[in-house]
Amino acid sequence: MSRVVTPPAAGSIYLLQLTDCHLMPQPGVPFRGIDSDATLAAVVAEAAALGIDFDRLLLSGDLVHHGGPDAYRRLLALIEPLPGVRHWIPGNHDEPAAMRAAAALACGQERVDCGRWSLLLLDSTAHPDGRGGGSLSEASLSWLQSALEQTADRHVLIALHHNPVGTDSAWQDAIMLANADRFAQLVGAYPQVRVILCGHLHQQQARRLGTVPVFCAPATSVQFKPAQAELALEDDAQAARPGFSWYRLDPDGSVSAHPCRIGAVAPAAALG
Ligand SMILES: [Fe+2]
Repeated sequence: MSRVVTPPAAGSIYLLQLTDCHLMPQPGVPFRGIDSDATLAAVVAEAAALGIDFDRLLLSGDLVHHGGPDAYRRLLALIEPLPGVRHWIPGNHDEPAAMRAAAALACGQERVDCGRWSLLLLDSTAHPDGRGGGSLSEASLSWLQSALEQTADRHVLIALHHNPVGTDSAWQDAIMLANADRFAQLVGAYPQVRVILCGHLHQQQARRLGTVPVFCAPATSVQFKPAQAELALEDDAQAARPGFSWYRLDPDGSVSAHPCRIGAVAPAAALG
Protein backbone atom coordinates (compact mmCIF):
# COMPACT_ATOMS: atom_id res chain seq x y z
CA MET A 1 0.00 0.00 0.00
CA SER A 2 1.36 3.44 -0.90
CA ARG A 3 1.43 6.01 1.85
CA VAL A 4 1.98 9.74 1.92
CA VAL A 5 5.26 10.76 3.43
CA THR A 6 5.08 14.43 2.49
CA PRO A 7 3.43 16.60 5.15
CA PRO A 8 0.49 18.72 4.02
CA ALA A 9 1.57 22.00 2.44
CA ALA A 10 0.03 25.24 3.69
CA GLY A 11 -2.53 26.63 1.28
CA SER A 12 -2.56 23.57 -0.97
CA ILE A 13 -5.79 21.91 -2.12
CA TYR A 14 -6.00 18.12 -1.91
CA LEU A 15 -8.34 16.60 -4.47
CA LEU A 16 -9.25 12.93 -4.80
CA GLN A 17 -10.53 11.62 -8.14
CA LEU A 18 -12.59 8.44 -8.45
CA THR A 19 -13.74 7.55 -11.93
CA ASP A 20 -15.53 4.94 -14.01
CA CYS A 21 -16.98 3.02 -11.08
CA HIS A 22 -19.66 1.39 -13.29
CA LEU A 23 -21.84 0.22 -10.43
CA MET A 24 -24.50 -2.05 -11.89
CA PRO A 25 -28.18 -1.20 -11.35
CA GLN A 26 -28.36 -4.10 -8.89
CA PRO A 27 -25.45 -5.08 -6.62
CA GLY A 28 -23.87 -8.47 -7.22
CA VAL A 29 -24.23 -8.36 -11.01
CA PRO A 30 -20.75 -8.50 -12.59
CA PHE A 31 -19.42 -5.66 -14.74
CA ARG A 32 -16.99 -7.12 -17.27
CA GLY A 33 -16.22 -9.98 -14.91
CA ILE A 34 -15.69 -8.07 -11.68
CA ASP A 35 -17.86 -6.96 -8.77
CA SER A 36 -17.65 -3.19 -9.26
CA ASP A 37 -19.20 -2.49 -5.85
CA ALA A 38 -16.42 -4.55 -4.23
CA THR A 39 -13.62 -2.91 -6.21
CA LEU A 40 -14.98 0.56 -5.36
CA ALA A 41 -15.11 -0.41 -1.69
CA ALA A 42 -11.49 -1.58 -1.90
CA VAL A 43 -10.46 1.66 -3.60
CA VAL A 44 -12.23 3.68 -0.91
CA ALA A 45 -10.42 1.74 1.82
CA GLU A 46 -7.07 2.29 0.10
CA ALA A 47 -7.70 6.01 -0.36
CA ALA A 48 -8.91 6.43 3.23
CA ALA A 49 -5.80 4.63 4.50
CA LEU A 50 -3.63 7.35 2.96
CA GLY A 51 -4.72 9.54 5.84
CA ILE A 52 -5.04 12.65 3.68
CA ASP A 53 -7.70 15.13 4.69
CA PHE A 54 -8.97 15.62 1.14
CA ASP A 55 -10.64 18.98 0.52
CA ARG A 56 -12.59 17.81 -2.53
CA LEU A 57 -13.73 14.46 -3.90
CA LEU A 58 -14.34 14.43 -7.65
CA LEU A 59 -16.38 11.61 -9.21
CA SER A 60 -15.64 11.98 -12.91
CA GLY A 61 -18.33 9.99 -14.64
CA ASP A 62 -19.50 6.51 -15.59
CA LEU A 63 -20.34 6.20 -11.92
CA VAL A 64 -23.25 3.85 -12.55
CA HIS A 65 -23.83 1.59 -15.55
CA HIS A 66 -27.29 2.70 -16.68
CA GLY A 67 -28.90 2.59 -13.27
CA GLY A 68 -31.45 4.65 -11.39
CA PRO A 69 -31.27 6.85 -8.28
CA ASP A 70 -30.84 3.85 -5.97
CA ALA A 71 -27.57 2.91 -7.66
CA TYR A 72 -26.25 6.45 -7.18
CA ARG A 73 -27.30 6.34 -3.53
CA ARG A 74 -25.38 3.06 -3.23
CA LEU A 75 -22.34 4.80 -4.68
CA LEU A 76 -22.59 7.68 -2.21
CA ALA A 77 -22.91 5.19 0.66
CA LEU A 78 -19.81 3.30 -0.52
CA ILE A 79 -17.68 6.47 -0.53
CA GLU A 80 -18.96 7.54 2.89
CA PRO A 81 -15.62 6.78 4.64
CA LEU A 82 -13.80 9.39 2.57
CA PRO A 83 -13.40 13.04 3.51
CA GLY A 84 -13.93 15.88 1.06
CA VAL A 85 -16.78 17.87 -0.39
CA ARG A 86 -18.44 15.77 -3.10
CA HIS A 87 -18.65 16.82 -6.74
CA TRP A 88 -19.73 14.71 -9.67
CA ILE A 89 -20.01 14.98 -13.41
CA PRO A 90 -21.77 12.56 -15.76
CA GLY A 91 -20.17 10.11 -18.18
CA ASN A 92 -21.69 8.42 -21.20
CA HIS A 93 -23.10 5.57 -19.08
CA ASP A 94 -24.70 7.88 -16.50
CA GLU A 95 -28.26 9.09 -16.22
CA PRO A 96 -28.11 12.76 -15.15
CA ALA A 97 -31.78 12.73 -14.12
CA ALA A 98 -31.08 9.81 -11.79
CA MET A 99 -28.01 11.62 -10.38
CA ARG A 100 -30.12 14.70 -9.65
CA ALA A 101 -32.79 12.54 -8.04
CA ALA A 102 -30.24 10.80 -5.82
CA ALA A 103 -28.46 13.83 -4.35
CA ALA A 104 -28.57 17.60 -4.25
CA LEU A 105 -25.28 17.94 -6.13
CA ALA A 106 -24.59 19.94 -9.27
CA CYS A 107 -24.29 17.71 -12.32
CA GLY A 108 -21.95 19.45 -14.75
CA GLN A 109 -21.17 23.12 -15.34
CA GLU A 110 -20.07 23.82 -11.81
CA ARG A 111 -17.46 26.36 -10.67
CA VAL A 112 -15.87 25.60 -7.32
CA ASP A 113 -13.55 28.19 -5.77
CA CYS A 114 -11.11 26.98 -3.15
CA GLY A 115 -8.02 28.86 -2.12
CA ARG A 116 -6.24 30.30 -5.13
CA TRP A 117 -7.89 27.73 -7.39
CA SER A 118 -11.11 27.48 -9.35
CA LEU A 119 -12.33 24.04 -10.39
CA LEU A 120 -14.47 24.13 -13.54
CA LEU A 121 -16.51 20.95 -13.90
CA LEU A 122 -18.09 20.17 -17.27
CA ASP A 123 -20.72 17.84 -18.71
CA SER A 124 -19.22 16.28 -21.87
CA THR A 125 -22.15 13.98 -22.64
CA ALA A 126 -23.90 16.19 -25.23
CA HIS A 127 -24.61 14.73 -28.67
CA PRO A 128 -23.91 11.09 -27.78
CA ASP A 129 -22.81 9.04 -30.78
CA GLY A 130 -24.21 5.76 -29.47
CA ARG A 131 -20.73 4.27 -29.15
CA GLY A 132 -19.58 6.11 -26.02
CA GLY A 133 -18.44 9.41 -27.50
CA GLY A 134 -19.66 12.79 -26.30
CA SER A 135 -19.28 16.52 -26.76
CA LEU A 136 -19.47 19.79 -24.92
CA SER A 137 -22.70 21.53 -25.86
CA GLU A 138 -22.69 25.09 -27.19
CA ALA A 139 -24.08 26.16 -23.82
CA SER A 140 -21.22 24.38 -22.00
CA LEU A 141 -18.60 25.98 -24.25
CA SER A 142 -20.13 29.43 -23.64
CA TRP A 143 -20.27 28.77 -19.92
CA LEU A 144 -16.63 27.66 -19.93
CA GLN A 145 -15.52 30.76 -21.82
CA SER A 146 -17.41 33.00 -19.42
CA ALA A 147 -15.92 31.18 -16.42
CA LEU A 148 -12.43 31.55 -17.86
CA GLU A 149 -13.04 35.27 -18.43
CA GLN A 150 -13.90 35.57 -14.74
CA THR A 151 -10.93 33.61 -13.38
CA ALA A 152 -7.96 35.41 -14.94
CA ASP A 153 -6.42 36.03 -11.51
CA ARG A 154 -6.81 32.42 -10.34
CA HIS A 155 -5.42 28.99 -11.16
CA VAL A 156 -7.90 26.78 -12.99
CA LEU A 157 -8.46 23.02 -13.06
CA ILE A 158 -10.93 21.72 -15.66
CA ALA A 159 -12.58 18.32 -15.24
CA LEU A 160 -14.69 16.47 -17.80
CA HIS A 161 -15.45 12.81 -18.44
CA HIS A 162 -14.30 12.43 -22.03
CA ASN A 163 -10.60 12.70 -22.80
CA PRO A 164 -9.86 15.85 -24.84
CA VAL A 165 -6.64 14.37 -26.29
CA GLY A 166 -6.00 11.17 -28.21
CA THR A 167 -4.06 8.31 -26.66
CA ASP A 168 -2.84 6.28 -29.67
CA SER A 169 -5.64 3.79 -29.19
CA ALA A 170 -7.77 3.73 -32.33
CA TRP A 171 -11.03 2.57 -30.75
CA GLN A 172 -10.74 5.00 -27.86
CA ASP A 173 -9.66 7.95 -30.00
CA ALA A 174 -12.85 7.39 -32.01
CA ILE A 175 -14.97 8.06 -28.90
CA MET A 176 -12.95 10.84 -27.24
CA LEU A 177 -14.37 14.35 -26.84
CA ALA A 178 -15.84 14.99 -30.27
CA ASN A 179 -15.31 18.76 -30.27
CA ALA A 180 -11.85 18.62 -28.73
CA ASP A 181 -10.58 21.27 -31.18
CA ARG A 182 -12.96 23.89 -29.81
CA PHE A 183 -12.09 22.92 -26.26
CA ALA A 184 -8.38 23.19 -27.09
CA GLN A 185 -8.88 26.67 -28.56
CA LEU A 186 -10.47 27.86 -25.34
CA VAL A 187 -7.87 26.24 -23.11
CA GLY A 188 -5.07 27.71 -25.19
CA ALA A 189 -6.49 31.22 -24.91
CA TYR A 190 -6.52 31.32 -21.10
CA PRO A 191 -3.12 30.73 -19.49
CA GLN A 192 -4.60 30.31 -16.01
CA VAL A 193 -5.66 26.76 -16.99
CA ARG A 194 -3.10 24.65 -15.14
CA VAL A 195 -4.43 21.12 -15.43
CA ILE A 196 -7.21 19.03 -16.99
CA LEU A 197 -8.64 15.85 -15.44
CA CYS A 198 -10.70 13.24 -17.27
CA GLY A 199 -11.95 9.68 -16.99
CA HIS A 200 -13.45 7.50 -19.74
CA LEU A 201 -10.19 5.76 -20.70
CA HIS A 202 -10.13 3.15 -17.90
CA GLN A 203 -6.38 3.49 -17.70
CA GLN A 204 -3.81 5.76 -16.12
CA GLN A 205 -2.66 8.40 -18.57
CA ALA A 206 -0.59 11.59 -18.45
CA ARG A 207 -0.77 13.62 -21.65
CA ARG A 208 -0.69 17.28 -22.65
CA LEU A 209 -3.09 19.58 -24.43
CA GLY A 210 -0.67 22.21 -25.70
CA THR A 211 1.32 22.95 -22.56
CA VAL A 212 -1.43 21.91 -20.13
CA PRO A 213 -1.11 18.51 -18.41
CA VAL A 214 -4.05 16.13 -18.90
CA PHE A 215 -4.39 13.33 -16.35
CA CYS A 216 -6.70 10.33 -16.47
CA ALA A 217 -7.05 8.33 -13.27
CA PRO A 218 -7.29 4.53 -13.33
CA ALA A 219 -10.88 3.30 -13.13
CA THR A 220 -12.18 1.99 -9.84
CA SER A 221 -13.51 -0.95 -11.92
CA VAL A 222 -11.78 -2.62 -14.90
CA GLN A 223 -8.84 -1.20 -16.85
CA PHE A 224 -8.53 -1.18 -20.64
CA LYS A 225 -5.25 -2.02 -22.29
CA PRO A 226 -3.63 1.09 -23.84
CA ALA A 227 -2.64 1.52 -27.50
CA GLN A 228 -5.05 -1.01 -28.99
CA ALA A 229 -7.01 -1.05 -32.25
CA GLU A 230 -9.98 -2.74 -30.55
CA LEU A 231 -11.23 -2.87 -26.98
CA ALA A 232 -9.06 -5.15 -24.84
CA LEU A 233 -9.06 -5.55 -21.08
CA GLU A 234 -5.71 -4.92 -19.43
CA ASP A 235 -3.84 -8.21 -18.94
CA ASP A 236 -0.85 -6.95 -17.00
CA ALA A 237 -1.47 -7.92 -13.38
CA GLN A 238 -0.32 -4.62 -11.89
CA ALA A 239 -1.87 -2.31 -14.50
CA ALA A 240 -5.18 -4.22 -14.29
CA ARG A 241 -5.72 -3.32 -10.65
CA PRO A 242 -8.48 -0.84 -9.86
CA GLY A 243 -7.28 2.49 -8.61
CA PHE A 244 -7.72 6.21 -8.16
CA SER A 245 -5.66 9.38 -8.28
CA TRP A 246 -5.15 12.24 -5.91
CA TYR A 247 -3.74 15.65 -6.71
CA ARG A 248 -2.08 18.44 -4.78
CA LEU A 249 -2.88 21.89 -6.15
CA ASP A 250 -0.43 24.43 -4.78
CA PRO A 251 -1.01 28.17 -4.31
CA ASP A 252 1.63 28.97 -6.94
CA GLY A 253 -0.33 27.02 -9.59
CA SER A 254 1.81 23.90 -9.60
CA VAL A 255 0.16 20.47 -9.58
CA SER A 256 1.34 17.02 -8.55
CA ALA A 257 -0.57 13.88 -9.58
CA HIS A 258 -0.51 10.67 -7.57
CA PRO A 259 -2.11 7.60 -9.19
CA CYS A 260 -2.61 4.68 -6.77
CA ARG A 261 -3.72 1.05 -7.09
CA ILE A 262 -5.36 -1.44 -4.78
CA GLY A 263 -4.14 -5.00 -4.27
CA ALA A 264 -5.08 -7.97 -6.41
CA VAL A 265 -8.73 -8.40 -7.42
CA ALA A 266 -10.64 -11.63 -7.16
CA PRO A 267 -12.85 -12.44 -10.16
CA ALA A 268 -16.54 -11.75 -9.60
CA ALA A 269 -17.32 -15.45 -9.62
CA ALA A 270 -15.15 -15.92 -6.54
CA LEU A 271 -16.76 -13.10 -4.61
CA GLY A 272 -19.92 -15.01 -3.88
FE1 LIG B 1 -16.25 4.02 -18.23
